[in-house]
Amino acid sequence: MDMDETKILIVGGGSGMGLALARRCLDEGAGVIIAGRNAARLNAARDELDRPAALATAMADISREAEVAALFARIGRLEHIVSTAADIEGAYRLLPEIELSAAQTVVASKFYGP
Ligand SMILES: NC(=O)c1ccc[n+]([C@@H]2O[C@H](COP(=O)([O-])OP(=O)(O)OC[C@H]3O[C@@H](n4cnc5c(N)ncnc54)[C@H](OP(=O)(O)O)[C@@H]3O)[C@@H](O)[C@H]2O)c1
Repeated sequence: MDMDETKILIVGGGSGMGLALARRCLDEGAGVIIAGRNAARLNAARDELDRPAALATAMADISREAEVAALFARIGRLEHIVSTAADIEGAYRLLPEIELSAAQTVVASKFYGP
């Protein structure tokens, strides 16, 4: 697939599925922005990806509307948006042990954010 001139935002691109997708998109010639909340994670991902000139990182928590608005104001035109963002901290526990806030965070990152 020819992805030259294609700019792709991957929220969650600092690890796991999003990082694998970022690698594949860069290999195909796309420009990629990986976004997440943790600068150290984004920097580590940047260090292990090829084509640094085609790669940018962006800090944003997609469960926070103002951060999403600021992100889009910064990065401009895009061809594709992918979100693999998932904050499941504390959500995979026995039912009596799950805090409602942990469940809400999962939904915010995996549903409302995208
Ligand atoms: N891995 C698999 O084999 C697999 C298989 C099937 C489905 N999935 C699904 O694919 C999704 C991703 O899985 P994964 O294994 O790639 O998980 P992961 O490695 O934990 O990656 C999730 C990414 O989301 C970012 N993130 C979390 N909350 C965020 C928020 N509020 N705003 C912005 N970024 C946020 C995290 O970075 P920060 O903490 O820096 O923000 C992290 O880089 C999940 O929904 C998972 O259920 C995964």
